Amino acid sequence: MRLEAELPDDESTVSFGKAAAAASRPGAVFYLEGPLGAGKTTFARGFLLGLGHTGPVKSPTYTLVEPYTAGSLSIYHFDLYRVSDPEELELMGIRDYFDGSSVCLVEWPDRGDGLISPPDVTVRISYSGGARKAEAESSTPLGDQIISGWNK
Ligand SMILES: Nc1ncnc2c1ncn2[C@@H]1O[C@H](COP(=O)(O)OP(=O)(O)O)[C@@H](O)[C@H]1O
Ligand SMILES: [Mg+2]
Repeated sequence: MRLEAELPDDESTVSFGKAAAAASRPGAVFYLEGPLGAGKTTFARGFLLGLGHTGPVKSPTYTLVEPYTAGSLSIYHFDLYRVSDPEELELMGIRDYFDGSSVCLVEWPDRGDGLISPPDVTVRISYSGGARKAEAESSTPLGDQIISGWNK
Protein backbone atom coordinates (compact mmCIF):
# COMPACT_ATOMS: atom_id res chain seq x y z
CA MET A 1 0.00 0.00 0.00
CA ARG A 2 1.09 3.51 -0.67
CA LEU A 3 0.18 7.06 0.28
CA GLU A 4 1.45 10.43 -0.83
CA ALA A 5 1.55 13.85 0.79
CA GLU A 6 2.60 17.34 -0.21
CA LEU A 7 4.92 18.89 2.34
CA PRO A 8 4.90 22.64 1.62
CA ASP A 9 6.64 23.63 4.84
CA ASP A 10 8.50 22.36 7.87
CA GLU A 11 5.30 22.10 9.92
CA SER A 12 3.68 19.79 7.39
CA THR A 13 6.65 17.41 7.65
CA VAL A 14 6.21 17.44 11.43
CA SER A 15 2.46 16.74 11.05
CA PHE A 16 3.13 13.93 8.59
CA GLY A 17 5.45 12.34 11.17
CA LYS A 18 2.86 12.80 13.92
CA ALA A 19 0.24 11.09 11.78
CA ALA A 20 2.63 8.19 11.18
CA ALA A 21 3.17 7.85 14.92
CA ALA A 22 -0.57 7.72 15.56
CA ALA A 23 -0.85 4.81 13.13
CA SER A 24 2.32 3.08 14.24
CA ARG A 25 2.58 -0.21 16.08
CA PRO A 26 5.23 -1.68 18.39
CA GLY A 27 7.96 -3.36 16.39
CA ALA A 28 7.46 -1.23 13.29
CA VAL A 29 10.53 -0.44 11.21
CA PHE A 30 10.44 2.76 9.17
CA TYR A 31 13.10 3.52 6.59
CA LEU A 32 13.43 7.26 5.94
CA GLU A 33 14.86 7.96 2.50
CA GLY A 34 15.68 11.11 0.58
CA PRO A 35 18.63 13.42 0.03
CA LEU A 36 20.42 15.44 2.71
CA GLY A 37 18.15 18.20 3.92
CA ALA A 38 14.95 16.56 2.63
CA GLY A 39 13.29 16.46 6.05
CA LYS A 40 13.96 12.97 7.40
CA THR A 41 15.01 14.16 10.86
CA THR A 42 12.08 16.60 10.86
CA PHE A 43 9.76 13.65 10.17
CA ALA A 44 11.36 11.76 13.07
CA ARG A 45 10.83 14.79 15.32
CA GLY A 46 7.14 14.86 14.38
CA PHE A 47 6.91 11.11 14.99
CA LEU A 48 8.37 11.47 18.49
CA LEU A 49 6.18 14.49 19.25
CA GLY A 50 3.21 12.39 18.18
CA LEU A 51 4.15 9.78 20.77
CA GLY A 52 4.29 12.43 23.47
CA HIS A 53 8.03 13.08 23.55
CA THR A 54 8.59 16.66 24.64
CA GLY A 55 12.37 17.07 24.75
CA PRO A 56 14.66 17.89 21.84
CA VAL A 57 15.24 15.49 18.97
CA LYS A 58 18.89 15.51 17.99
CA SER A 59 20.14 14.25 14.67
CA PRO A 60 22.08 11.08 15.55
CA THR A 61 24.65 11.80 12.86
CA TYR A 62 27.63 11.11 15.13
CA THR A 63 26.10 8.74 17.65
CA LEU A 64 24.36 6.68 14.91
CA VAL A 65 21.42 6.02 17.21
CA GLU A 66 19.39 8.07 19.67
CA PRO A 67 17.06 6.17 22.04
CA TYR A 68 13.69 7.46 23.26
CA THR A 69 10.88 6.05 25.34
CA ALA A 70 7.20 6.88 25.28
CA GLY A 71 5.32 5.05 28.01
CA SER A 72 6.51 1.46 27.74
CA LEU A 73 7.49 1.82 24.06
CA SER A 74 11.13 2.19 23.00
CA ILE A 75 11.89 4.16 19.87
CA TYR A 76 15.31 4.14 18.22
CA HIS A 77 16.20 6.85 15.73
CA PHE A 78 19.17 5.97 13.52
CA ASP A 79 21.17 8.08 11.10
CA LEU A 80 23.61 5.82 9.28
CA TYR A 81 24.89 8.50 6.90
CA ARG A 82 28.41 8.47 8.32
CA VAL A 83 28.81 4.71 8.41
CA SER A 84 31.62 3.72 6.07
CA ASP A 85 32.34 0.24 7.36
CA PRO A 86 29.55 -2.22 8.27
CA GLU A 87 31.81 -3.42 11.10
CA GLU A 88 30.91 -0.25 13.00
CA LEU A 89 27.33 -1.48 12.99
CA GLU A 90 28.34 -4.98 14.09
CA LEU A 91 30.31 -3.47 16.98
CA MET A 92 27.39 -1.38 18.21
CA GLY A 93 25.19 -4.47 18.08
CA ILE A 94 22.76 -2.85 15.68
CA ARG A 95 20.72 -6.04 15.22
CA ASP A 96 19.70 -5.98 18.88
CA TYR A 97 17.77 -2.73 18.43
CA PHE A 98 15.46 -4.43 15.92
CA ASP A 99 13.86 -6.55 18.61
CA GLY A 100 10.32 -6.83 17.27
CA SER A 101 8.81 -4.60 19.95
CA SER A 102 10.71 -1.31 19.59
CA VAL A 103 9.93 1.17 16.82
CA CYS A 104 12.94 1.90 14.62
CA LEU A 105 13.26 4.99 12.41
CA VAL A 106 16.25 4.69 10.09
CA GLU A 107 17.81 7.47 8.03
CA TRP A 108 20.22 6.23 5.30
CA PRO A 109 19.17 2.58 5.70
CA ASP A 110 21.22 1.57 2.63
CA ARG A 111 24.35 1.96 4.84
CA GLY A 112 23.03 -0.84 7.01
CA ASP A 113 22.15 -3.19 4.20
CA GLY A 114 22.15 -6.80 5.37
CA LEU A 115 22.56 -5.86 9.04
CA ILE A 116 19.26 -4.22 9.85
CA SER A 117 15.73 -5.56 9.57
CA PRO A 118 13.77 -4.90 6.40
CA PRO A 119 11.25 -2.05 6.57
CA ASP A 120 7.55 -2.30 7.30
CA VAL A 121 7.17 1.16 5.79
CA THR A 122 9.53 3.16 3.60
CA VAL A 123 9.04 6.94 3.65
CA ARG A 124 10.63 8.72 0.70
CA ILE A 125 10.91 12.49 0.78
CA SER A 126 11.88 14.31 -2.38
CA TYR A 127 12.20 17.93 -3.28
CA SER A 128 12.71 20.08 -6.30
CA GLY A 129 13.40 23.68 -5.50
CA GLY A 130 11.57 24.41 -2.26
CA ALA A 131 8.62 22.05 -2.67
CA ARG A 132 8.80 18.75 -0.81
CA LYS A 133 6.69 15.67 -1.38
CA ALA A 134 6.59 12.41 0.50
CA GLU A 135 5.40 8.93 -0.24
CA ALA A 136 5.05 6.13 2.24
CA GLU A 137 4.97 2.54 1.05
CA SER A 138 4.37 -0.61 3.06
CA SER A 139 6.19 -3.88 2.47
CA THR A 140 4.76 -6.12 5.20
CA PRO A 141 1.29 -6.84 6.69
CA LEU A 142 2.26 -4.66 9.67
CA GLY A 143 3.18 -1.92 7.23
CA ASP A 144 -0.22 -2.30 5.49
CA GLN A 145 -1.95 -1.78 8.85
CA ILE A 146 0.10 1.33 9.48
CA ILE A 147 -0.64 2.83 6.04
CA SER A 148 -4.37 2.02 6.50
CA GLY A 149 -4.51 3.92 9.77
CA TRP A 150 -2.29 6.80 8.68
CA ASN A 151 -4.48 9.91 8.37
CA LYS A 152 -2.05 12.28 6.70
N1 LIG B 1 8.42 20.31 4.06
C1 LIG B 1 9.43 21.16 4.29
N2 LIG B 1 9.53 22.33 3.63
C2 LIG B 1 10.56 23.18 3.88
N3 LIG B 1 11.55 22.95 4.76
C3 LIG B 1 11.52 21.79 5.44
C4 LIG B 1 10.47 20.85 5.25
N4 LIG B 1 10.70 19.78 6.06
C5 LIG B 1 11.84 20.05 6.72
N5 LIG B 1 12.34 21.25 6.36
C6 LIG B 1 13.60 21.88 6.82
O1 LIG B 1 14.68 21.35 6.06
C7 LIG B 1 15.88 21.33 6.84
C8 LIG B 1 16.51 19.98 6.80
O2 LIG B 1 15.66 19.07 7.44
P1 LIG B 1 16.18 17.71 8.09
O3 LIG B 1 14.97 17.09 8.68
O4 LIG B 1 17.35 17.95 8.97
O5 LIG B 1 16.66 16.91 6.79
P2 LIG B 1 17.36 15.48 6.65
O6 LIG B 1 17.28 14.79 7.99
O7 LIG B 1 16.60 14.76 5.59
O8 LIG B 1 18.77 15.75 6.23
C9 LIG B 1 15.46 21.76 8.23
O9 LIG B 1 15.83 23.12 8.40
C10 LIG B 1 13.96 21.58 8.25
O10 LIG B 1 13.34 22.48 9.14
MG1 LIG C 1 18.77 13.87 9.14
